[in-house]
Amino acid sequence: MPRETIIILNFGGQYDQLIARKVREANVYCEILPCHASIEQIKKSNPKGIIFAGNRADANKEKAPKCSAEVFELGIPILERFYPKMGHSQQDGLLLKNFLYDTCGCSGEWTMANFAQQSIESLKERIGNRKVLCALSGGVDSSVSAVLLHKAVGSNLICIFVDHGLLRKDEGDQVERVFKDRFHLNLIRVNAQQRFLNRLKGITDPETKRKIIGEEFIRVFEEEARKIGKIDYLVQGTIYPDVVESGVGNAAVIKSHHNVGGLPEHVDFKEIIEPLRNLFKDEVRKLGEELGITRELVWRQPFPGPGLAVRIIGEITEEKLEILREADAVFRDEIAKAGLDMEIWQYFAVLTDMRSVGVREDRRTYDYTIALRAVTSIDAMTADWARIPHEILTKISNRIVNEVKHVNRVVYDITSKPPATIEWE
Ligand code: XMP
Repeated sequence: MPRETIIILNFGGQYDQLIARKVREANVYCEILPCHASIEQIKKSNPKGIIFAGNRADANKEKAPKCSAEVFELGIPILERFYPKMGHSQQDGLLLKNFLYDTCGCSGEWTMANFAQQSIESLKERIGNRKVLCALSGGVDSSVSAVLLHKAVGSNLICIFVDHGLLRKDEGDQVERVFKDRFHLNLIRVNAQQRFLNRLKGITDPETKRKIIGEEFIRVFEEEARKIGKIDYLVQGTIYPDVVESGVGNAAVIKSHHNVGGLPEHVDFKEIIEPLRNLFKDEVRKLGEELGITRELVWRQPFPGPGLAVRIIGEITEEKLEILREADAVFRDEIAKAGLDMEIWQYFAVLTDMRSVGVREDRRTYDYTIALRAVTSIDAMTADWARIPHEILTKISNRIVNEVKHVNRVVYDITSKPPATIEWE
């Protein structure tokens, strides 16, 4: 745990995480608590300062949420109601820095290099020679958790990578290559493609697909874990917004969590380890870079746990998966070549369940339509369709219809979220 902590008391509204991230960016560790947190709870963190985060409109209302009067008697500097103002980020930054460094006397020890070093030390101490199990998906959070733990306990960390066959082109092999060959992780890859395909046969409803994949994932994971035998710890890739949004910080629960799986019931373990529990997503990425994980992996766009299953409308078959993988690979290749991959939040192909008439080499075709989805966003809660230049869209469309069998039409999705969602299912 860092020595210097700032407490952010949330009086309502959605500024708490924004302020917290600004404090962290200024290299000071902070935690969010609800405004009615007890004085003991506040004192526990031994804070060097307190920031009130709240809704300006509520500030003077009688019914506005209040904190305990004892907060003012702690003798700790308080910054009352701080609001990040649109277009004033430089002034806000300065105000915040003055408060953190001059008023509270913080020294700026919160860096990902320090975090990595301290976490590795404390994980080593906590775990000792015991065994840790981690479900590695290749996503940012599980990858960074795994590498961090590997640095702490080496081969006592066992990673299970369930390849459900719903990954993008070459992705399964890439995950194996990076973590086995490069980081020398003790990694078990389970090739369960056929199992998942069998269970998904004939299923068209999106939520049923998700449920089946979640259940099957747990089942495969449990079977593998049982082969390993006794496990002491299970790793979870929880990050700070999950902690705050699940109500600990009394913030409104705004994000529905749709992780694949949940916790396995039939794996015998003593405790859960959540090495990223205190970090924001951008900090997880920085930590990943600090640990030597490639930028490509660390800056990977979000990818749904149920994978391509929610990007194939209707029944999932091997043939459809193949079509979608190829089309998606072309899309990603061209976006990367155009240098747009860091600008766009998420971009992917969707295989619609619609076939239409086309013509190729003077012959009539009756093939699938691929939809391209690309959005800009800051948190996936809202999104706008990305204005990809027409000439790049032309190139992508030409390449897809020429290179991918059974596709004769490409459309571009120009809806924002809301009312549409980012994924099609
Ligand atoms: P929507 O489609 O709801 O997506 O606008 C918002 C963000 O969540 C991702 N997403 C999922 N992630 N399991 C996940 O782990 C899922 O079932 C799932 N569905 C959507 C989506 O890619 C986007 O980033």
